[in-house]
Parts: sequence; structure tokens; C-alpha cells
Amino acid sequence: MATQQTVFEQLASMSAAKSRRILGLMSGTSMDGLDIALCEISGRGTATQCKVLNYTTVAYPEEVKQKIRPVFSQSAVDLDYLTLLNGWLGNYYAELVNQTLETWEVAKHDVDIVASHGQTIFHCPAHQHQYDAFTNGTLQIGDGDHLAVKTGIVTMSDFRQKHVAAGGEGAPLAVYGDYCLFASDNETRVLLNLGGIANITALPKGEGLSNVVCSDIGPANTMIDAYVRTYFNVPYDSNGSIAASGQCNEALLNALMTNRFISKAMPKSTGPEVFNLDWLIHAQTMSGTYNLDKRSVVTTLTHFSAMVIAKHINEIVKEDKVALFASGGGVSNPVLCELIQTQLSPMVVWNTTESLGVDPDAKEAVLFALLANEAITQPIGLETNLHTLTMGKLSLPR
Ligand SMILES: Nc1ncnc2c1ncn2[C@@H]1O[C@H](COP(=O)(O)OP(=O)(O)O)[C@@H](O)[C@H]1O
Ligand SMILES: [Mg+2]
Repeated sequence: MATQQTVFEQLASMSAAKSRRILGLMSGTSMDGLDIALCEISGRGTATQCKVLNYTTVAYPEEVKQKIRPVFSQSAVDLDYLTLLNGWLGNYYAELVNQTLETWEVAKHDVDIVASHGQTIFHCPAHQHQYDAFTNGTLQIGDGDHLAVKTGIVTMSDFRQKHVAAGGEGAPLAVYGDYCLFASDNETRVLLNLGGIANITALPKGEGLSNVVCSDIGPANTMIDAYVRTYFNVPYDSNGSIAASGQCNEALLNALMTNRFISKAMPKSTGPEVFNLDWLIHAQTMSGTYNLDKRSVVTTLTHFSAMVIAKHINEIVKEDKVALFASGGGVSNPVLCELIQTQLSPMVVWNTTESLGVDPDAKEAVLFALLANEAITQPIGLETNLHTLTMGKLSLPR
């Protein structure tokens, strides 16, 4: 029988409960689909225990990709279109949540809260734009109110705005979840996520949150995806097979490596607004490689990602041994992963997050579920620094 609780009483009992069921939703810059992870989370901070009860990625059908592309990392968009898409996408996510819970045979009232990242359509840190009057900005769409109303589940969304509001760039946000779930007293760990963009969280052994480095480091899949979509009519270079069939062009690789983001100090953030086909054309023009065969362009882009990634990781590796745990779709590209590994310092031991008990494809969605858990369990005034500002926008179903 349904109890007569107000939404706020419901939130209070959720906060006081021993554990919570949180549904994390993530869609990154690859725009490949919505990652959905149902997590059972207890405790908070470094005492957090998280069990992934179920996980899936619902691939975006082509028509959904086509709906998002006109506003995705474009500097000029049709505003009535964007306004309408924001709500439409929230509704679409809600439909995917409803269908997925039905498939899993999980009742809605068994999910305490939905934690939704939303679809990033533009990421704009200060170092990337020319407007003196503004600092950092980032925009995710797929409005949380639509999700809450259509699923009937309390929803937390828009996590990145809080980071910007507190003076951050809004990305990467992996730091707090990576620290709570994976920091170790016995080994120094690096979490490497290979999404559209690559980011790392470096967790020195036995150190507190203030000594954790978390930063975007450059492209993982984004340029490879953009190129093969345009010239090979496929969404991504499946298993790196196109990259394996070409030759790396050193002149083009060197030109790509001159991107000024690469030499910027960490922490920093970036996106397909910087690493895109315009940058490739610029690098091809600089290096006189405009006529390079298309397969070799894919090979060179794969080398480019690997070189940028290995460079940044090697920078933070001191004399200590480091255990690296990779996640994200790039883990499924063996050519990319092997190129990274061959350029990494011998101090670094390669693993995937699978060995930490988290599916590499589920990891990011799990991290947002964890942020929602922190938001509803952290005492007010605990430590209000950038790391602990975890509360997104709260949307009530009624
Ligand atoms: N079998 C595969 N072979 C090569 N690349 C893959 C494969 N599976 C996924 N990927 C890459 O992973 C990307 C999706 O990774 P994901 O972690 O979801 O990134 P994002 O967080 O940006 O959405 C795809 O766009 C593709 O580039
Ligand atoms: Mg994805």
C-alpha cells in the first residue's frame, strides 16, 4: 500500500536509509547512446559501497543522432529548435528508462532517484572562447523535469553547472566518484576513461582528495569517429580495423600534436569543439598531407590519440609503480589500446576497470549515480570545495 509521504519526506527517508537504488544515466560526446546503470549504493565518501545491479547501453537510433547533430558542438544554432530539443530529449530518456526498467523487471518505486548527466551539446571553458566578459560554460540538454514527470521518479541532473558555479570548468567530473570508489592505500592508481574525449584521475596511494589530479587530456575517439563517419560511412572504427590497415604519417602526427590544448597544464577540459575535422584539415594543410590516403588518416588519428594520452599519463607518473584502469568505449579498440600501452612508462601496469568490478562501459553512468548519492547523504557544510559540490538540479515528479 502506498504511504502518504510528501516528496520531501520521501527524500529525507532516502537520505537516512542504509542504502539507495540509484539509476545513473550517461551520454558522452561520442553520442553513441545512453548508458544506464542501476546501482545499489550505501555509505558515502570513501566508505561508499556500490553494487551495479544491472547495466545497459541503449544505442541512439540514427534518427535520434540526426536530431541532436544540428546543435552538437555548433557555434550557431536555431534557438527554437534547441529549446524544443531540450524537452524532447528529456522525454526520450524517460521512455528509455521506463522501457529498460520494464525489461529488467524492476518496479519504479524500487528506484529511489535517477541521476542524469544529459547530452553535452557545447563545452566552453575560458581558454576556448574569445568573450572577455565570460568565464567557463558548458551546456547539457535532456531536461531533468521531463525525466522526473515522465518516469515518476525523483531526478537529479545538470551536475556540471554546479562545478561551473563554483569556479570550475564543469569537466571532468570523475574526480569525486573515482576517489570514493577506487582510491587505495596500497597502490597508486590512474583511472583512464576513453570516451569521445580521454580523461584521467590520478589517485596517489594513501593520499586524500586534495592530492588527486583529474583532467581531460585530449581526444580518445572523437576525431576517429568524426572521420570514419564522414569518409567510411560507419559510426566508429570497429576494433580499430581501419587504423590497422593504414600507415601512420609522421608529418601529420607532428602537426596534430601542435594543438595548444596539449601543452596546457592539467587540470584542463576540452571537447569536440577543439578536436574535430577542422583541426585535422588545419594539420593536413600545415603538414602538406592533404592527399594522404583515408586509411592512413585513420591510422594517424589513432596514433595521435594514443600519443597525447600516453604523454599526459607519463607526466604524472613518478618513480612509484602505477596501476592503470581503463574504461569507456575506447577499451574496445585494440589498436588504440596497444598504441597507448607501448608508449606508456614501464612503471604503468595496464588493466581495465573490469578488474575493479566495474564494467568499462558502465563506469561513467555509475559515477553520476554516486554523485547523486553524495548529494543526498552529505551533511551540509562538510567541505564545500570543488570536489564535494556534487548536487545537481533536483526535479520532482509532481
Ligand atoms: N568495438 C569497438 N571498436 C572500436 N571503437 C569502439 C568500439 N566500441 C565502442 N567504440 C568507441 O567508443 C565510443 C563510445 O565510447 P563512450 O565511452 O560511450 O564515449 P562517450 O562517453 O563519449 O559517449 C564509440 O563512439 C567508439 O568510438
Ligand atoms: Mg557513450
